[in-house]
Amino acid sequence: MKIVIDDYEYNYLVEDILKNRKFKKLEDCPHHKTNRLEHSKRVSLNAYKICKKLNLDYVSAARAGLLHDFFTNNYKEEKAGKLMKEHPIIASYNSKKYFKLNQKELNIIESHMFPLNVKVKPKYIESYIVSTIDKIACVYEKIVGYSSELNFKLGEKTIYLFLLMFS
Ligand SMILES: [Fe+2]
Ligand SMILES: [Fe+2]
Repeated sequence: MKIVIDDYEYNYLVEDILKNRKFKKLEDCPHHKTNRLEHSKRVSLNAYKICKKLNLDYVSAARAGLLHDFFTNNYKEEKAGKLMKEHPIIASYNSKKYFKLNQKELNIIESHMFPLNVKVKPKYIESYIVSTIDKIACVYEKIVGYSSELNFKLGEKTIYLFLLMFS
């Protein structure tokens, strides 16, 4: 499921984030059957492309889309419901610590769980776009993840049956 990004402008816009040592740690965080870095790149790249096509602020969409899940907490080690509610604020805190963000970028990050979390509401069209892409990416990643697991299990069972038949 690894994303290969060959868009020169996109890579230039988010280069500093992708090079950040703390941000790189997202690769070690399991997230929707993939890892949090891949998920964040998927959301960011799609938000960038859609906002660019619609003549919107694609720079903020790309950067905040990439930072929207900038937290290293593990869902298995903490209360999942609490983390689900609080992670946009943790992501915003971490993002502010390492990068300079504008008001729109902060709103995109803090409101991305809307309407599951209504604490911070989307104020910009780019916030709605990132939030929607995030949900679509989540469903996509889960389907791909579960189907590859299922294929693997089916493959394993077939081999087992094959061995039984010839033993
Ligand atoms: Fe999130
Ligand atoms: Fe997300």
